Amino acid sequence: MQTKIYQIDENSIKSAVKLFLSSDVVAFPTETVYGLGAVATDSTAVKKIYEIKGRPADNPLIAHVHKDYDLTKLVYIEQDYVEKLKKAFTPGPLTMVFRSKGVVCSEAVCGGQTLAVRIPSHTGCQNLLKAIDMPIVAPSANLSKHTSPVTAEHVYNDLNGKIQIILDGGKCSGGIESTVLDCTEKTPRILRAGLITKEMIEQVVGSCEIAKHLESDKVRSPGVKYKHYRPKCQTALYAETDIESVIKRYEAEQGLGKRAYIMCADYLKENFNGKNLLLLGNSQEQIASNLYDKLLEGEKKADIIIAIAMPDEKNVNLGIMNRMRKSCE
Ligand code: TXA
Ligand code: MG
Repeated sequence: MQTKIYQIDENSIKSAVKLFLSSDVVAFPTETVYGLGAVATDSTAVKKIYEIKGRPADNPLIAHVHKDYDLTKLVYIEQDYVEKLKKAFTPGPLTMVFRSKGVVCSEAVCGGQTLAVRIPSHTGCQNLLKAIDMPIVAPSANLSKHTSPVTAEHVYNDLNGKIQIILDGGKCSGGIESTVLDCTEKTPRILRAGLITKEMIEQVVGSCEIAKHLESDKVRSPGVKYKHYRPKCQTALYAETDIESVIKRYEAEQGLGKRAYIMCADYLKENFNGKNLLLLGNSQEQIASNLYDKLLEGEKKADIIIAIAMPDEKNVNLGIMNRMRKSCE
């Protein structure tokens, strides 16, 4: 099978809907990363996702719906703060976990009692979800453990020959996966950090917890325990306060004949004149947006990526550091 890439438009959406309705999978853009989708109620199709990605069978999937979809068809919304969160952050990079009504197939939720739901804001993705008008479960469209794709070409590089079509909606603006928020209890709790931050959620609903596993304790969001996001080359991670060690490491690696690249924020670049760089931008949003793109560019041209960490774990930096540690440590 030769995988085809089509611009996401009315025609390609029609083809995608046909594939979905014949128990097949389709890769599509969202504002965070590209997803590999299947109809959430179709266990044959959902099994294909796990097979194609080589995804562990105990890591549940997110159901994606369009903005006018009635979530109560799928889940019990039990907390008052949900309406406020929905109003403030959807459509957008926020995934909310609720008690499931058991409509989606058990393969999609790995037999669990909860369902993660997300309403993406990417226009092409909204059009696709409107056209199918059913929940589409979709993990990131990469092989399990590899860096998540933020362009159609990234998807192609991982999945060529394994899927029929990729809908191309340009480079994802968000760049890291959605915030996963447990909305089953009195206080919402972040299970995976992302662009909708603890600080933003607190502004809207007063309080927001961060799951212990994000501070390396109990695992509530199963995906977080697996090795993830790794580029194919070697990697290393240094603190922003350790520029001297970065330069030493770079020179040592180059001395061994290895192609070393330093991955850092633009404001650090004057420390590394004349060296190979993968520049991430300046603001937290730019850095999130470029992180996977630069890791995937780096794996093509570097033997080792020497990454420089964010100065703290506040706001979007929490999500960036969660990915950087997994991909670069
Ligand atoms: O931005 C995103 O969320 C992207 C795009 C495609 O929408 N999707 C994505 O899916 O990142 P995936 O499968 O790569 O990550 C889903 C995360 C995993 O950490 C998984 O454990 C968690 O969401 N998750 C899914 N269902 C859950 C549930 N019922 N309870 C707790 N965590 C859940
Ligand atoms: Mg993923």
